[in-house]
Amino acid sequence: MATASTKMPEPHAKSEAREASTPDPWEAAYLRFETPEEEIDKFIGRLKRLGARQWPRDAEIVELFCGRGNGLIALQRLGFTRLEGVDLSPRLIAQYQGSNCIVADCRELPFADRSKDVLIVQGGLHHLPNLPGDLDQTFSEMQRVLRKGGRVMFVEPWLTPFLMFVHFVSEIPLVRRLSNKMDALATMTEHEIRTYTQWLGQPELIKKVARAHFVPVHESFAWGKWNFVGTPR
Ligand SMILES: C[S@@+](CC[C@H](N)C(=O)[O-])C[C@H]1O[C@@H](n2cnc3c(N)ncnc32)[C@H](O)[C@@H]1O
Repeated sequence: MATASTKMPEPHAKSEAREASTPDPWEAAYLRFETPEEEIDKFIGRLKRLGARQWPRDAEIVELFCGRGNGLIALQRLGFTRLEGVDLSPRLIAQYQGSNCIVADCRELPFADRSKDVLIVQGGLHHLPNLPGDLDQTFSEMQRVLRKGGRVMFVEPWLTPFLMFVHFVSEIPLVRRLSNKMDALATMTEHEIRTYTQWLGQPELIKKVARAHFVPVHESFAWGKWNFVGTPR
């Protein structure tokens, strides 16, 4: 069973860490958007595309904003052994069967300086409430925690024509009635609309903050995603 750390960063996490017992409509939609196996396959594909097969199998890897932990399962299936996850939601972490997930705020990472080799974020940064402040703080924390020569990998939504099309379609009432997946997407978007539109609306700012902390090794924009792999400055 997953363990929840007692660390609860001040001051924001107290108000934002969600209670394990309270239902959350965004989380309910996220859980029905993809099955765990669909999600794991997607993560494995991404990891391979972004060069994870070249990383040492004993690298210390943390998946930030890890949700229900399927990114960790993908890493495990690729042979990685030293894995940890961090997420603000005790309910999502409770769905993960491993013992290496911590409930914490990624703006204040519960790890020692220079203690990790790879930090991964897949679809978490766009949940940060304040840009650029929270992004800068999260990236500073990642820089602090990474060893020299370490890596970051981000995959986040990006307003490409494909993403615009997907959102247009997912908001059509008939499509929502016919497709559980599209309805889940539209529901998630409704519940995260403030941070999501803030994120999608500031691409240059986001790239600038990322480059201030990390040297890009790979960067691409495709299928509604920003894919970034970098090393700490
Ligand atoms: C879109 S989900 C992505 C989950 C997982 N990476 C995936 O792709 O399935 C975003 C996650 O970020 C978490 N989250 C939001 N703000 C956070 C914060 N400040 N620190 C840690 N986790 C946070 C949410 O609880 C949620 O699980």
